[in-house]
Amino acid sequence: MKNIYLVGFMGTGKSVVGQELARQRKNKFVDLDELIEEKEGRPIKDIFAEEGEPCFRTIETRALKETSTKSNMVVSCGGGIVLDEGNVAIMKETGFVICLTATADVILERTRLHTHRPLLNVPSPKGTIESLMKVRAPFYARADFTVDTSRKSIKETAEAVLAFIAKNSE
Ligand code: S3P
Repeated sequence: MKNIYLVGFMGTGKSVVGQELARQRKNKFVDLDELIEEKEGRPIKDIFAEEGEPCFRTIETRALKETSTKSNMVVSCGGGIVLDEGNVAIMKETGFVICLTATADVILERTRLHTHRPLLNVPSPKGTIESLMKVRAPFYARADFTVDTSRKSIKETAEAVLAFIAKNSE
């Protein structure tokens, strides 16, 4: 069975929807950010602060490569994984790439009380969310299927993803 890779901006629900998908499909769930933190023995915000974003991206690609050798997995990916064309190619070769989206206001609401995302630990996160979303839009557009989670429950989003996969699996 092909993997499901959940991509999309921070706060679009990749982890919670991924867990629901894994439960329903009886697949293993992997949160790539958590895997990176386990392997590195430090939180992502420390990797960003101590070694910078490019180093984090290299570690992220390594974690994706390792994970993609397995099948029957639901993988929740960090919001920036699609920025690397090679990462997108790996995901497309080994599974379905599903993008979750939400409006900037919903993302702000879902993320504003969290401090573990270095890119949003800024004085005016709304502006950062809007500009990053704009820059990343063409990268997220490479996904096989997109679901707007702004007004959907976790279960409704998971159903939409599973319907797409059922239609596109032989
Ligand atoms: C990032 C998203 C984060 C994490 C890192 C960078 C991004 O993951 O990988 O902070 O560039 O969008 P989530 O999307 O799971 O928050």
